[in-house]
Amino acid sequence: MLKFSRRILLCFTVAVGVALSPLAISHFDDKEVLQSYRQSWFAMVATNFGPMVAMLKGEMPWSEERMTAAADQLAQLAVMDISRGFAPGADKGKTRAKPEIWSNREDFEKKMQDMRDAALELQAAVQSGDRKAIGKNIAATGESCKACHDEYKSEDYLY
Ligand code: HEC
Repeated sequence: MLKFSRRILLCFTVAVGVALSPLAISHFDDKEVLQSYRQSWFAMVATNFGPMVAMLKGEMPWSEERMTAAADQLAQLAVMDISRGFAPGADKGKTRAKPEIWSNREDFEKKMQDMRDAALELQAAVQSGDRKAIGKNIAATGESCKACHDEYKSEDYLY
């Protein structure tokens, strides 16, 4: 009996944990809406790009369907106008966005455009079904993320 109820308790704890986790990692801050806007966008970008990398590395079974869906979503996100998230005054709140974004705008925009181009090329490669090209373009897209993060994303929260 005791063992049985412990098991129920464990299931309950896991269920509650799963139910609450989206709240715990929620980016939404109603005082800093633009900060939430950009961080949520990055979270969606990463949620689509992550499985593509995992499939390439063999950490997840390769699925053409999943790869196509992720590439399409990533391309849609990449062409979305996210400039509001980096508007003047949006550098507030709990953020890892470095102040240089706001003072080095031209270079930052270029890095954003490089990511956009890479995501669209990756989508085309996925549509072609050429695995070698897909691999090459996943790597190139990853490089475009890294190029910006190296300059403009802090490891730790700044504020
Ligand atoms: C032009 C610059 C730029 C590009 C390109 C870029 N990032 Fe980022 N990324 C940032 C900045 C700046 C932040 C910090 C945002 C903040 O904390 O307000 C960030 C944050 C993130 C976060 C954390 C979001 C959070 O708050 O939880 C993830 C995940 C992420 N990026 C993934 C990616 C991936 C994957 C790519 C490429 C497909 C990418 N980024 C491309 C600049 C960039």
